[in-house]
Parts: sequence; C-alpha cells; structure tokens
Amino acid sequence: MEKKLVIALVGLPASGKSTVASKLKQCLEGEGLRVAIFNNGNVRREICRDFDSSCPYFYAPDNPEGVSLRNKIARINLQRAADFLTNGGAVAILDATNVSERRRQVIKDFFPEVPVFFVECINPDPELVAASISRKIRLPEFSHLTPDQATQSFRERIRHYANIHEPLAHEKNFVVLDTLHNTIGREQVQALLPYYPIVRDLLVSDWVRNLYLVRHGETAYNLDMRIGGDSDLTVHGLVQAQALAWHFADIPLPYVFVSAKKRTLQMTESLCHGRPDCRVVALPEFDEINAGVCENMTYDQIARDLPEIHAARTRDKYAYVYPGGEGYITLKDRVERGVKKALFLSGNAEHIMIIGHQAVNRMILSHFLFRRTEDVPYIHIPQDRYFHITSTQSRKVFELVKFNG
Ligand code: F6P
Repeated sequence: MEKKLVIALVGLPASGKSTVASKLKQCLEGEGLRVAIFNNGNVRREICRDFDSSCPYFYAPDNPEGVSLRNKIARINLQRAADFLTNGGAVAILDATNVSERRRQVIKDFFPEVPVFFVECINPDPELVAASISRKIRLPEFSHLTPDQATQSFRERIRHYANIHEPLAHEKNFVVLDTLHNTIGREQVQALLPYYPIVRDLLVSDWVRNLYLVRHGETAYNLDMRIGGDSDLTVHGLVQAQALAWHFADIPLPYVFVSAKKRTLQMTESLCHGRPDCRVVALPEFDEINAGVCENMTYDQIARDLPEIHAARTRDKYAYVYPGGEGYITLKDRVERGVKKALFLSGNAEHIMIIGHQAVNRMILSHFLFRRTEDVPYIHIPQDRYFHITSTQSRKVFELVKFNG
C-alpha cells in the first residue's frame, strides 16, 4: 500500500513556507504521488469575508476571539487534509505558521496513524523579509491600506507569531531549513519516515523551472572594449532589446531581475512594455565586476599603462582582484547571494529572467553548471543569445538560445 505522510510547515509569516510547499508538491507529484497543499491563509480568506482578518490584532495571542477563529481554521484544514489522505492522497502539506508546541501537538493528535514531518522555515535575512513583505502586501486583503500601513500591519503580525514561537524539539521528525541558503540547521528524523530522502534532497537543492539568463545588449563601452562604468545601450543594443522582447512576447515573465546598472534596466523597457505581469527587480548583487582602478579603461589602455595588472590578471584571471575592486574569486559570494535572493523572491514562479553582465553571468552559470574555477572567467557570454536553465531534481537542462535574427 502507498505510504502516507503529512508535512507540516512551521515558521513566521514571510519566511518562505509557501514557496517550499509549492516546490514539495511539484517534486512529489513528479514521483507520481497525489499531493495537496492546505493553506490556512486561504481558509481564513474564505471564511472571514465579513470582517477584517488582516488587522494585526486578529493574530494577537491575547485576543480570545482571534485565537478561537484561527484554531477553527486550522481544524478545517486538518479535516480536509485527513479526508484527502483517506481518499487516495499520499502527501498532505499543511502550509501554516504552526509556531507553538500546542498547535503542533494538535496536528500530531489529529493524525495518529500517519507520520508528521515538521519543516521549519527560517528566513535569516532582514532585507529579504522586507522584500517578501512588500510582495505580501499586494494581496487584496491589504488594498484598503497604504503601503506603509500595510507593511506596519504585517510586521506586527510577525511579532505576534514571534512571541509564541517555540523551537522544534519534541517532535519525532523535523528539519529546520534556512530558506535563503537552502541549508538545514537542526534535524531529527526517524528511520522509517516515508519520502524522506527525496524531500530532504529537495529542501537543500536550488529549484529552478525556467531561468532565462540574458546579458545586456551592446553598449558604447562594449564598442570601445572599455570596462565597467554605467554606459547606455547603443542603437544596436536597443535593437537587441527589442528582439528579446519579441522573443519573449508569449512567455509569462512575472519576475525580471536586473542589476543596478542602466544597461540592464534598459533591456527591460521593450521587454516589459505593456505587460503588467512583468515585475522588474533591481538587485545590486548582479552588478558587473568592479574593476577598481581599471574602471572605465579599455583593455588596451590597461595593457599599455598598467602592464603589471594586465600580466597578473592574465596569469590567474579567476584569483586576480583588481586594486580597489573585485575579482571573480570575490564576486562569487555576492552573485550567489543574488541568485538565492532572486529564487526566494520569485517564489517558485514558472519563468524568471535575470539580465546581467559578462562576469556576473559567468558566475551565475557556474553556480548551476560545474566548471573548473580557472575556466569560469572565459565562459562565452554572447549578447544575442540567452541561457535557458532548468534545474530541478529530475531535470537539468542548459540550452543556449538565439533571440536576435
Ligand atoms: O567588457 C564588458 C564587461 O562587462 C566589463 O565591464 C567587465 O569588466 C568585463 O566584461 C568582465 O569580463 P573579463 O573578466 O573577461 O574582463
């Protein structure tokens, strides 16, 4: 008989739980299992139509009405999950905060025959919490508030949950997951927990369904072989941007990540024109390598005027760090952080795009595809093609696709 499992997420609001739930569902469905997510927020919005459940007081532990209503919502979902498992479902995912031991005990008591695996999500990065809140406050339940009021309200909600949060300890099966870095801190798992190997593997893997990795089009600096700076696209670069827009006209692009440099943002002008589905997010983590004292110089000038720099970089391009700037070796951490941030913020969206730069895109590629470090600074990053990357547990695909001509 097919084994049954309840996965109960644990974590403060905006800690990445729903993204983890959605990845788990896709991954386990890929194994042929019937999986469903039971989200308490959705039930709340379903049954609390007549009053404002977005107000922070609703979440206060000392608000008896709020507590009783939230318990009722949890029970509704537990019952739905139990019905699902009885009627042929294999894995029920409970997507809710579940931060108190008492609530977790209710879950365990509700499923005496089915193992419960608690997955606690921790988002350690204040900047990401802020970005995640700014996404949450676009939900219709905040539409009557200004963005500032909605942010404040959401932060207060988080504080209420933080006040009753009790770390996982007495549960038989649990992992504590850092959802930014996909790393597991503490864990305790009994040998016979069904689907554990695949679930654990998924939790620590990057999961990207369709990442389109694009380099900005031609700039004035590219024509001169001049490095760094913040130059504009040339006319030819704008034509490339238009070609990219045509190529992606029928592909949904909910998230397009760019750097803080003009040339990457300019690529999105035609791409996102008239497309309200397209959200452009600038991440300085994707800024081009900082060439320090060589910024704004041409390669010829560097070779002529700063021959020792030219020679040292030629000797070991990966390890060489420009005086006052960066090297590939130091770029790695910043770019990896950008990738994690983009994956976190895009919340398992089916399609995402990153428009980056030559050195940055080399680092992004090598994040997904193993290359010896000495080869990374030489990966060919054309301006008329993009890399289509899929990286899930069951599918690893890399394709270089031409979009211009
Ligand atoms: O030439 C364009 C550019 O993006 C520069 O701004 C940057 O310094 C360079 O590419 C990185 O490539 P490489 O490491 O091969 O010099």
